[in-house]
Amino acid sequence: MRDEFGREIDYLRISITDRCNLRCRYCMPEDGVKWIPKSEILSFEEILEVCRAASKLGFKKFRLTGGEPLVRLGIIGFIEKISKIDGIDDIAMTTNGILLGDMADELKMAGLKRINVSLDTLNPEKYRYITRGGDVKRVLDGIRKAFYAGLYPVKINTVLIKGFNDDEIDDLVNLTSIYPVDVRFIELMPIGEAMNMDYIPCDRVLDGGKLIPLGEDGVASYYRLENAIGRVGLIRPMSCKFCSRCNRLRLTSDGRLKPCLLKDMEVDLKGPLRRGEDIVPVIKKALDIKPKEHEADAGEYLKNGDMYEIGG
Ligand code: GTP
Ligand code: 5AD
Ligand code: SF4
Repeated sequence: MRDEFGREIDYLRISITDRCNLRCRYCMPEDGVKWIPKSEILSFEEILEVCRAASKLGFKKFRLTGGEPLVRLGIIGFIEKISKIDGIDDIAMTTNGILLGDMADELKMAGLKRINVSLDTLNPEKYRYITRGGDVKRVLDGIRKAFYAGLYPVKINTVLIKGFNDDEIDDLVNLTSIYPVDVRFIELMPIGEAMNMDYIPCDRVLDGGKLIPLGEDGVASYYRLENAIGRVGLIRPMSCKFCSRCNRLRLTSDGRLKPCLLKDMEVDLKGPLRRGEDIVPVIKKALDIKPKEHEADAGEYLKNGDMYEIGG
């Protein structure tokens, strides 16, 4: 469906859980968070109902996010069902990759098409630090297994943090010379715990002048090193907004529709859903209020829930 600014909105990002098996420093506080009670979280049946209604409105692409989507029990059966909905041509997932090695084959068999993996550093100690205890070897093994399973293309998402991983830009870019992966650098957005970290614009990645521009695709602008087999992407919500080509709505795990990641607005979907009402008009309402663009500024705290609730 087209919104009032002429954008074709056909992509639904679905957070299936607020729980996570990591505690990234820019995402969750040290003592953890108060989880949303299970009874408030949409059941897989309820999410499927939302997906069917969205597909009636022309949504073609679904992405499962979290928290960490792979920690939710029953996810394989859920993907099997979602992949049978008519008119869907892309089902993807954004994961931290910790459980991917164990699950890649069954995810592929269930109908998942591709994955994006969050990986902010290649250094085991730095990974343990930023995730508060994660093992980077598991993530790298997960990416390898995903390739073997045919979950392709694989994109790596790296949030750029000043003084933490800006010294690894070249190493991450060089991965694309050896592996057929897209490495995407993301600007830190001023949400929740991320306010304790330092932002740098993604254009830093272009220093050195070796990256050849390829153009835009989704939220990223892509580049390639000469002779590389993978691409380098820049996702610049702060320094170079991509709102004019935004094509998505977000569903939180407790059933709120968010028309914009960086604006404090939402539409309650769970209420109508649990009352047995028609939810097509509710999704339409979220499309109706989708703003033209965000007005967030890198240094300014943004009140719109936390990333682990909204799913990035
Ligand atoms: P592809 O379908 O592979 O292009 O994935 P994607 O970029 O849509 O999804 P992914 O979950 O990998 O998102 C990558 C990063 O971009 C995350 O940090 C998201 O928070 C950020 N991002 C995705 N969509 C938006 C958006 O609409 N607005 C903003 N500000 N950031 C977004
Ligand atoms: N700014 C930018 N990206 C973030 N992510 C989580 N929090 C932030 C933030 N404040 C990323 C995760 C993951 C994706 C879904 O969102 O690292 O790759
Ligand atoms: Fe978990 Fe993702 Fe938040 Fe890290 S950024 S704690 S992987 S939800």
